[in-house]
This record gives sequence, structure tokens and C-alpha cells, in this order.
Amino acid sequence: MFANMIRYLFATFLFGGPSMCLRLTNMTAPSIQDPREQMQLYCKFDMGGEDLYAVKWYKDDHEFFRYAPSGPNNYVQYPVSGVTVDTTRSHCTRDTCELMLIDLQRPYSSGAYRCEVSSEAPAFRLASQTFNITVAAIPKHPPLIDGLADTYTTGSMLLATCTSGLGDPKPRITWFVNNKMAPINQVKDLPSKPAQPDTTGNSNIMLKQSISQLRIPLDKKYTGTQPSTSLEVRCVSSVDGINSNIAPHLSATRNIMIMDENQLVNNQKFHWPSCSIKVSLTGCLPVLAIFVYLFAC
Ligand SMILES: *[C@@H]1O[C@H](CO)[C@@H](O)[C@H](O)[C@H]1NC(C)=O
Ligand SMILES: *[C@@H]1O[C@H](CO)[C@@H](O)[C@H](O)[C@H]1NC(C)=O
Repeated sequence: MFANMIRYLFATFLFGGPSMCLRLTNMTAPSIQDPREQMQLYCKFDMGGEDLYAVKWYKDDHEFFRYAPSGPNNYVQYPVSGVTVDTTRSHCTRDTCELMLIDLQRPYSSGAYRCEVSSEAPAFRLASQTFNITVAAIPKHPPLIDGLADTYTTGSMLLATCTSGLGDPKPRITWFVNNKMAPINQVKDLPSKPAQPDTTGNSNIMLKQSISQLRIPLDKKYTGTQPSTSLEVRCVSSVDGINSNIAPHLSATRNIMIMDENQLVNNQKFHWPSCSIKVSLTGCLPVLAIFVYLFAC
């Protein structure tokens, strides 16, 4: 206790603060990285008064880059599949290290990236932090719903298609009807355009699209005893393995009406436009006059 206090006071006196130990103060990395762009990794550390020996970068425990200011070459790269550091745009100092990774590939570039800082002899202290990074091209546009009418009558067939944006891996389409996932017997994958290489220059990326058809026989259970009802149709595009907290799913929503013609006819019998049986006939006369006029002409 007493010894600790002395040590603390001594450190405070010597280094002007309680940060007497090597520590990693800030690592930034994306949780999801679009392979059409470069990936930036950043690590900031406080040597706590010790000398920097090396900053080592690992992917899934394989070292791919080292900065050792006292070594013969400041920057050393080690071959790790899916990892290419652009050294002309990477920069490390005695308290920061920033890397630019290019030519990202799926799935090899995804993984756990670690920044590890070590101090010189005799302390040989280590500090590190790890980020899990998923490399995937998420579509840049929400999906598109086609072929859906605004109104349907009971007994007819609802047929619609949904087309996702381009992505790698191939986006997955899910249909929801009134917030419930559509059953698989109402959903069918349709052939889509062949995969196409990315046009921004990363030939490792093959962009794919999904097209899905929704087919619902609109029987009377939708309207029940009502003359009409509305239905919310939603198409969601997502990427397997990517949580919606990391990349919100993209969606398109449409509201349609379903009319039951029998119920409509029944209702019209009792609800003649703008008047009802209860209202005296005089209230209906203007309406009747218009009808007579229309049919007479
Ligand atoms: C960490 O570093 C990044 C990049 O320089 C900066 O934007 C961010 O604000 C820093 N975060 C903290 C907690 O210092
Ligand atoms: C990274 O993912 C692995 C496996 O899913 C998990 O065990 C680990 O805790 C994650 N690490 C971080 C820093 O999120």
C-alpha cells in the first residue's frame, strides 16, 4: 500500500500524470468494409515514457505489417491472404499508426484485425486491441418492387417481383406481408443478371443481384366480412452474416387495397351514394336527377 503510493507519487512526479504504463488509447476500424473502397486502420497509443519497439498488425493472429522505428526497414510487410497494405499511403509515428489496405477480397479480407504495440527492453510491455471486420459490398440502393397494382379484388392473384441492388455476397430478399414473413410457397427466386465485376477497379469483386417473386392468391380470408382491406407488402434485402445493427437492412414498402366485390355490391344496396334508406327521398333527388340526366344523354 505504502510502496504503491510512493511509486504513484514518483510516477506522477516523473511523467506528469498517472499514465505511467504503455497503453493503446484509440483504435479505429470499420465493422463492415465495402471492398470497392480502401480500408483504413488506425491505432493511437501512449508509450507512458517507454520507447516504442514495434507496432505489429495481425489478421486472425497472422502478422501482416510491422513498424519498428529502430529496425533496418521501418515498414515490413508479411504475406497474408486478402491483406495488401498500400505503404505509400500508410504512416506510423511514435504514437500513432495508420494503414491503408487495398485490393480487398471476399472472404479473405474479413477477420479479426489486431494492433499490438510493444515497448523496448527491458520492460517489453504489450498493449493491443482487436476489431472484427466483415468485408462485404452492401447494395447502394434499396430493393425495387415491380408489378404490384394499387387495388385487387378477392379471388385474383397478387403477383409482384422485387429486385435487389448489386452486392457481394449476393443479397438475400425476404418478403413480408402485414409484417409477417411470407411463407416459402408464396415466394420464388427468379433468374437474375449474371454477376458483373465491380467497375471501380477492384477486380476481386463480383456484384450480384437477386430477384424474387411474390405470388399470393387473394381469397376471401383477407377481407372477411369487410368490403375492403389494406395489405402492407414489404421487400427487404439483407446480406448473410451481417447483422442489421451493423448495416441496416434495405427495404421497399407498398400498401395495396383488396376489395370484395360481393360485399361491395351488398353495401351499395344499402348505401346508395350520398343517401340512405333512412334519409327522406328528397335528399336523394339531386343525385337521382344527375343519374337520369346522364342516362338520358
Ligand atoms: C479515435 O481516433 C479517430 C481518428 O483519428 C477519431 O475520429 C476519434 O474521435 C478518436 N476517438 C477517441 C475516443 O479519441
Ligand atoms: C470477434 O468475433 C469473435 C467470433 O465471433 C468473438 O469471439 C470476439 O469476441 C469478437 N471480438 C470483438 C473484439 O468483437
